[in-house]
Amino acid sequence: MTEVEAVSEGLNSDLTVTVEAGVGRLFVKGAKLDDDLKARQLRREIVINQHVTHLSPEIRLQVEEAGWLIVGFDHVEGRRADYSPLSPDIPLVLDLLDRLSETPCPTIPLREMDLSAHARPEDAHRFGGGALAHTDLNPGNVRVAPDGRAYLLDWARYKRGAPWWDATAFAQCLMTCGHTPYDAESILAELPVWKTLGLGDLDAVAHYQSTARSKWKPRLDAWTNASVAAARRWHDHHLTQNPEPPTRTRHF
Ligand SMILES: Nc1ncnc2c1ncn2[C@@H]1O[C@H](COP(=O)(O)OP(=O)(O)OP(=O)(O)O)[C@@H](O)[C@H]1O
Ligand SMILES: [Mg+2]
Repeated sequence: MTEVEAVSEGLNSDLTVTVEAGVGRLFVKGAKLDDDLKARQLRREIVINQHVTHLSPEIRLQVEEAGWLIVGFDHVEGRRADYSPLSPDIPLVLDLLDRLSETPCPTIPLREMDLSAHARPEDAHRFGGGALAHTDLNPGNVRVAPDGRAYLLDWARYKRGAPWWDATAFAQCLMTCGHTPYDAESILAELPVWKTLGLGDLDAVAHYQSTARSKWKPRLDAWTNASVAAARRWHDHHLTQNPEPPTRTRHF
């Protein structure tokens, strides 16, 4: 090991550093073993990694010692993705999502997508399925390399669910970054997996995203606030597109 550098982005891990090692530059994440949640999330990243190396940096190092779990990934040169309108990164993320949607769901323990806490009861069944979903596509988890390829980071929260889940989650992120609901949906419509959305699925997603976020405690960070407002706009957009049947006026 020759050089170690602290990384400022990323809120969750106990330790994030880049390291020059014999196998090349590594991005190293560490979790204290007595922090059950963080250690469990990092172990989940280890379990999924071999199934997603065509999308994500490969794990080269794994050590459990002195109360720490330490994992070294190939370091991806480049920068975080930009999801704002007209960003040249958007086609790169679409390509990433396309490759993700073609990835077979591995036969490993997977939590099922269960959104029943915030979905309308009649919609809850829509989110299940047999596809691998990353579920956290915020731009901090997508890195654009100088070769023009986007890499998916942070596989801490994957689930099994509907094949279109991540595509709709990316639409939500686009709106958070300033796209209108119409534009975000038009951008995603290019993806083959978008065409697997059934009648009413998108409306159910917009309703879910808005309801779930409306329950979040107020926070001061710009991303969270923009995300809450975006979900509300998306839901309103669907309400105006698919208005409830007018209430019948009874004439006596
Ligand atoms: N393989 C990598 N190569 C280069 N940079 C990386 C790599 N993996 C992660 N990063 C950088 O470190 C940041 C945090 O990584 P990651 O999201 O995996 O960690 P985290 O601690 O779980 O953070 P959070 O929960 O806040 O998303 C990323 O946003 C990215 O900037
Ligand atoms: Mg992250």
